[in-house]
Amino acid sequence: MTKFIPVSEPSITEKEIDYVTNAVKSGWVSSIGQYIDAFEKRFAEFVGTTYALTTSNGTTALHLALVTLGIKEGDEVIIPDLTFIATANAVTYTGAKPVIVDIERDTWCIDPQSVKKAITAKTKAIIPVHLYGHPANMDVINHIAKEYGLYVIEDAAEAHGAKYRGKKVGNLGDIGVFSFYGNKIITTGEGGMLTTNNEKIYKRAKFLKDHAMSVEKRYWHPEIGYNYRMTNLQAALGLAQLERIDELINKKIQIFEWYKEFFGDIQCIKLNPQKEWAKNVFWMVCLILDTDFGISRSELMAKLKEKGIDTRPFFYPISQMPMYNSGKINPVAYDISQRGLNLPSGVNLKKESTIKNSP
Ligand SMILES: Cc1ncc(COP(=O)(O)O)c(C=O)c1O
Repeated sequence: MTKFIPVSEPSITEKEIDYVTNAVKSGWVSSIGQYIDAFEKRFAEFVGTTYALTTSNGTTALHLALVTLGIKEGDEVIIPDLTFIATANAVTYTGAKPVIVDIERDTWCIDPQSVKKAITAKTKAIIPVHLYGHPANMDVINHIAKEYGLYVIEDAAEAHGAKYRGKKVGNLGDIGVFSFYGNKIITTGEGGMLTTNNEKIYKRAKFLKDHAMSVEKRYWHPEIGYNYRMTNLQAALGLAQLERIDELINKKIQIFEWYKEFFGDIQCIKLNPQKEWAKNVFWMVCLILDTDFGISRSELMAKLKEKGIDTRPFFYPISQMPMYNSGKINPVAYDISQRGLNLPSGVNLKKESTIKNSP
């Protein structure tokens, strides 16, 4: 039988097993413990921010970022059409409206010109998403945000370690948000992180994340908060992964290079974008089929599946989902979404798998 090659799988070594075992043995199995502190400290150092705050997942980190900034019903938040649904849902949880705009063809990330056109008196924030590991065009976005007095929350769920003009994502806006879901660059099983350089934002987020419990008076809750805490067990896994993050990112880049070498001469496909100012961490290696590819995306995916090669279609545009469908079409997002697929990009992948089993 052909070996199954998954789109993604985590890399778990003795280090991860040791740290998680230590955490379990310590008895600190909930959300207080040395691994939480160490993971937050090391993650802030990695991103280059003053603060990092663990959360239960990337979606709660996004929601926490929004409520921390005071986003509420009646507000508007601009997001890209091509992203995972969590970006839009987190905005909706606050009562605000996600305003969904098109992406750029050469980064697949939010198009700053479309952002500018979508700004109204109700707009409070922009959420650029560093899609599939490539950073958004942050200087232009930050410039627009400054001009109109808007917050910038980076959705860096898929882009740990990616750089915009030499600076790490998560350190480019008011708040950065990361996910540690099992398929992410580093994982804690489920988990998330909020990063910021602003002490007020950090303290407010830390307060809201833990049921808004008073720092001075235990079990006193002056407002409605949330339980968005990560456990020490998850943080133990996260710390071990973080200590290996350069190795994991380098492997992602190497996997992309293998595909590039193999597909390089094929005319009717394109791989991930790579702007000259960007360090792309290639969370997922992506293939875009030209319209004259010959067979449809679903036929190609079925053929690869027969050979034991797992793939995923690109995200559907958010504005196509029933709850977000306003009838407006964002042409670039719709086009890229229809023609894109993710190839096996797991860090345990071997070069022979990408070549021998490819079409
Ligand atoms: C762009 C983006 N934003 C947010 C999330 C939400 O993260 P989580 O699954 O950890 O809630 C994800 C991934 O899952 C994502 O890809």
